[in-house]
Amino acid sequence: TLQAVSTRKGQTFHFGSTYDTYDANQSWFTSVFSTFYKHVVSENGCKWDATEPSQGTSSLTECLACQSFATTNGDTFRGHNTFWHSQTPSWLPGSFSASQVVNTIIPQHVQQEIQGMGASITSWDVVNEVVGDGVSNGMTPLQCVQNKKVWPTVTSDGSSTALVTDLSFIYAAFKTAFTYAGSSTRLAINEYNTGGQDAKTACIISLIQNIQNNTAIPFNRLAVGFQSHLTASTGGFYTKSALATTFSTLAALGVESMITELDISLNSNNQANLRYQAAIWGDYLDACLYAANCNEFINWDPRDDLSWRGTSAAATLFDGNGNPKLAAYEVAARLANYAAGN
Ligand code: G3I
Repeated sequence: TLQAVSTRKGQTFHFGSTYDTYDANQSWFTSVFSTFYKHVVSENGCKWDATEPSQGTSSLTECLACQSFATTNGDTFRGHNTFWHSQTPSWLPGSFSASQVVNTIIPQHVQQEIQGMGASITSWDVVNEVVGDGVSNGMTPLQCVQNKKVWPTVTSDGSSTALVTDLSFIYAAFKTAFTYAGSSTRLAINEYNTGGQDAKTACIISLIQNIQNNTAIPFNRLAVGFQSHLTASTGGFYTKSALATTFSTLAALGVESMITELDISLNSNNQANLRYQAAIWGDYLDACLYAANCNEFINWDPRDDLSWRGTSAAATLFDGNGNPKLAAYEVAARLANYAAGN
């Protein structure tokens, strides 16, 4: 079915989930990533703490292992992430000046990770979660970022350090990524609680344009990752049409959209909620399938027992025993429906 979906799309549709080599149930992962998912992202293995444990020491073992898990199963692989204030190695924040961070620390890390991982990565989350939560419409890209914790030295969200006097830390990451990534690898900003016509999404759209203007990276190499950690309750998700509007705004720029970390937690695990969860899953998948510029769709943690949200959230496609839930059947049906030309 995914082959037929990709044929209709005119390019590979990357449908996947997360994996780390230390996850429990390795045989389950091998089977499900051979038959159901065909795209892999490492949940934790490609983050800064795992990939540069001491300054200048590249350690891509776990990230490469996840990539070879993908290759072994005939799957593609995306990189998450080369810059995030969370899960940073113990030598950060250190006492580096903003200019050392921008001119040395970030370029060195981004280069060694992207160069080390090779050119076949479909997309990289170059920067993760740099836009603030309390933003309002009309903010400049700098204002969008300034009230966000973007570096480990920031003691609490909402206060920025010397690092965020301008956006050069973002430009440094993107310019380095563009230099070393494969020629068809998309370079993304990856954010949560975005996707509709709201202030944070407006910030992201203006930020991606600002990044293009300040790095000269062509728009057709840029992307926005919509993490989509949702709740199956009123207001806990965007409608299909809201997503479609945002995707088309980005398409007009030539920027790719992707659903990068979808999970949909339930208040309680009853049949009605599972059906509601399945419907939201289907709408997010349809929004991506029917948008020419959305070709990566990822379920974050494929199993409820391994979900970062905890088992009670029942947020993913397979239950704690690895059995498909209603949402998994809905996803398969939507893929088949699209593949059939509907
Ligand atoms: O590997 C250590 C292990 O050695 C140790 O015994 C154990 C207990 O301390 O911790 C393990 O590390 C944990 C790691 O997951 C691997 O399991 C960290 O404590 C834990 O904080 C980490 O959580 C990850 C979280 O990001 C960190 O912020 C989640 O697995 C991961 O799903 C989650 O993913 C993020 C995305 O990267 C970005 N978007 C939001 C999403 C959810 O927070």
